[in-house]
Amino acid sequence: MVRSRISIDNLIAIVAAGGKVKTGIDVYNAKGVLLLEKDTLVSNVRTLEIIKSQGVRTLPLNPENYGGIWDKDGNYLKIDVDGVTASKEPFPKQENISQNSISKERLSRDSVSKEKLSRDRIKQSKIPAPSGEIEKRLKSIEEIKTAATDKFTLAKQQVKKTFDEIKKSGGEFDYTGVENHVSKLVSFLTISENPFSYLTKDIFTYDEFLYSHSVNVCAIGMAITNRFNMNFSSMVNKHIDASASHGDEFLHSRGNITGNITSGSYVCYLRDEIIDIATGFFLHDIGKVLIPEGVLNKKNQLTLMEFEMIKKHSYGLGVQILEKNGLKNTVLKNIVQLHHARLFDSEQHCYPESILPDEIPLSVKICKLADMYDAMTSRRCYREAFNPINVVTDIFRKYAKKDKMLQFILHAFVKSIGIYPNGSVIYLKNGQMAYVLESTGPLVLPFTDKQGNTLSATASSSIDLGDDNVANELKADSLRSIKTPLEVYELLPAWLKPQATP
Ligand SMILES: [Fe+2]
Ligand SMILES: [Fe+2]
Repeated sequence: MVRSRISIDNLIAIVAAGGKVKTGIDVYNAKGVLLLEKDTLVSNVRTLEIIKSQGVRTLPLNPENYGGIWDKDGNYLKIDVDGVTASKEPFPKQENISQNSISKERLSRDSVSKEKLSRDRIKQSKIPAPSGEIEKRLKSIEEIKTAATDKFTLAKQQVKKTFDEIKKSGGEFDYTGVENHVSKLVSFLTISENPFSYLTKDIFTYDEFLYSHSVNVCAIGMAITNRFNMNFSSMVNKHIDASASHGDEFLHSRGNITGNITSGSYVCYLRDEIIDIATGFFLHDIGKVLIPEGVLNKKNQLTLMEFEMIKKHSYGLGVQILEKNGLKNTVLKNIVQLHHARLFDSEQHCYPESILPDEIPLSVKICKLADMYDAMTSRRCYREAFNPINVVTDIFRKYAKKDKMLQFILHAFVKSIGIYPNGSVIYLKNGQMAYVLESTGPLVLPFTDKQGNTLSATASSSIDLGDDNVANELKADSLRSIKTPLEVYELLPAWLKPQATP
């Protein structure tokens, strides 16, 4: 039985001060979409802000099912007619509270109004953040990193298990296991855009690269796909062509969607399709498992024959593995078979050559771009990672002017991957190093002087690099590679040092 309701603004204030809340009852919006599960322990203000953006003004609390509110010291807060008061009584289930709450803060995909959130964050980033605000952002970054590390490790284990099964059996694997895992992963990837960008990408063996790469392509690809759904679904509803054939991956539109666009195809994927697409991203390089290691790991230039062998990982071996397992899903097959195909007529080194750019489905295009981006921005045993901003610029130059759909994908791509991930370290043009507090802008916190000496907390203040008034010498130096906090650990002030190893 629900005992009380409490204003969401009050809860935001409590959580912002370091408190936690658990409703003890599932919370839905007016359309019946699940916003918050009853057992979720909320410790992140962002979660409550998203729920508030859905029109929810109060949240129910059911203490009989272990719902409650705790202050920052873990004291259970009593709720009465006068509001909320602290109680020293220990709450019966308090020992069950996990500190790693981000991973448990599950919100329905439909409930996430990321556009609004993003606008709010842009507004905030124009104001220099006070030290309390910086502290909260740092804490939030650490929480997301911890959750991302857990999910990434599990996902890599799943890839390894699948690839080992294929190696052992010559092609057979437990597809249902993969699909179940990807389905859970998709929920996580919908809450936090491209969360794995927070993690170090030092990869020193090919196997290790293949596992990480499969997970990263899935994460980047999903971030882009989700953004497509968010940005275009309302427009699709208005302009959808009633005669579009059912069951097609595309929903075609003949109408103008904006003043600039006169033709094109727009897409809104349903949940089941999203899972198929994500599974395709996850398994896109499955055919590589059956290619001899000597060829995959070769550091020198490949011979023509070896290159032919590598090419077969997609349209040859990849497709054969799917067939061997009786997998007839078109979305999955297209991604595995075509993720190296041409996206425009004169594109070189693409395969299979017989496929025309017009025949490539959107999900395959997304996979190809995510694949290129991840491969180039990963540090390998034989080369440094390329700077993400240079990689994105190159990809943009190569593809953006080819057609409108590619342009849309690239815009979604740039918005979702965030060139400078939160929690990364960049160089400014004047030589200072800065910690990225918010990839939008980006909003950064310089922590060294121009000579590389560490600054104290009081000497640092945040800068919005997206602000036109910022001096040129304070802009990001795109010629120097982005670092992880671990790479520059010695230079970090104590208050920026990571709590846990990513
Ligand atoms: Fe591939
Ligand atoms: Fe790949």
